[in-house]
Amino acid sequence: MRIILDTDPGIDDSLAILYLSAQPDVDIVAVGSVHGNVPAPVAAANALRVLDVAGLDDVPVAVGAHRPLAQELRTAEFVHGDDGLGGHAGPPSPRAVVDCSAAEQLVRLARANPGELSVLALGPLTNIALAVLLEPRLPELLESLVVLGGALGVPGNVTAHAEANIWHDPEAADLVFDTGFDNLTLVSLDVTETARADSAWLDSLAQVASPRAQFASALLDHYAAFYSNMFGVRVATMHDPLAAALLCDPSLATYREVAVSVEVHGTYTRGQLVSDWRSIADDSHIESEAGRGRRPVRAAAAVDAEEFLTRL
Ligand code: BDR
Ligand code: CA
Repeated sequence: MRIILDTDPGIDDSLAILYLSAQPDVDIVAVGSVHGNVPAPVAAANALRVLDVAGLDDVPVAVGAHRPLAQELRTAEFVHGDDGLGGHAGPPSPRAVVDCSAAEQLVRLARANPGELSVLALGPLTNIALAVLLEPRLPELLESLVVLGGALGVPGNVTAHAEANIWHDPEAADLVFDTGFDNLTLVSLDVTETARADSAWLDSLAQVASPRAQFASALLDHYAAFYSNMFGVRVATMHDPLAAALLCDPSLATYREVAVSVEVHGTYTRGQLVSDWRSIADDSHIESEAGRGRRPVRAAAAVDAEEFLTRL
């Protein structure tokens, strides 16, 4: 499987890169950074650093969108650390970023490899939205798109209703869901919040001597400390690694088809993923704007978290 990674590393993004690097049948063709957890140039520098640790020091990295489409830049160093890697960014990679933007890189690669590449979007969807604007045939040119984002039946993690990746750029996310990708898998908080590494899991990773495991363990110390301060338990929610695992092996989850929209106006609900799950034989009298006329996405509904954590 050949993939383009769109990402904002970020601690769980980094874990996803390390996970993918260990899959024998996965080829990361290119990486694009995006604003989100940290500014886009920092995310690109972190991606280079993590790829180096993973032994993937020939994968090109392009800097992506520096800000959302229609709001100010907001980042999340309070979760991921000032450097985005929990204080473990270390010396910068000797490699430089490539000389084009992430959206341009995505369009170029999709055109050159029609039907062959899958995109794994682990950050705000600004680059994917820009790529769709540059190349409206993107849905036909890609094999699949996996999006980490949104909260359907559970609370958000930034506001009561909004999940971080959608909240960081609601307009971009809505544009992507309106584009009509016919092979779009949505991995939302509904499943990622069931994929929590507990204290025993974190301790067992720390025992693994490989440089990759030690690097991952150091990042996770910071991440778990955030959860510990916030919720009083030492855990690490594996959002982005779960999306990577479902791209590699969709059978780890069950799915439901649903059309989704993003609330872009609400005073209290901006960034909420809106869906209509009602299943009524005669829906002629039902009023609903959610997802009307949109192609449904395949939303992960339940996941084998134990098996996922074992593989991770
Ligand atoms: C998402 O937000 C980011 O902080 C994580 O990297 C993940 O992509 C989870 O809501
Ligand atoms: Ca991310």
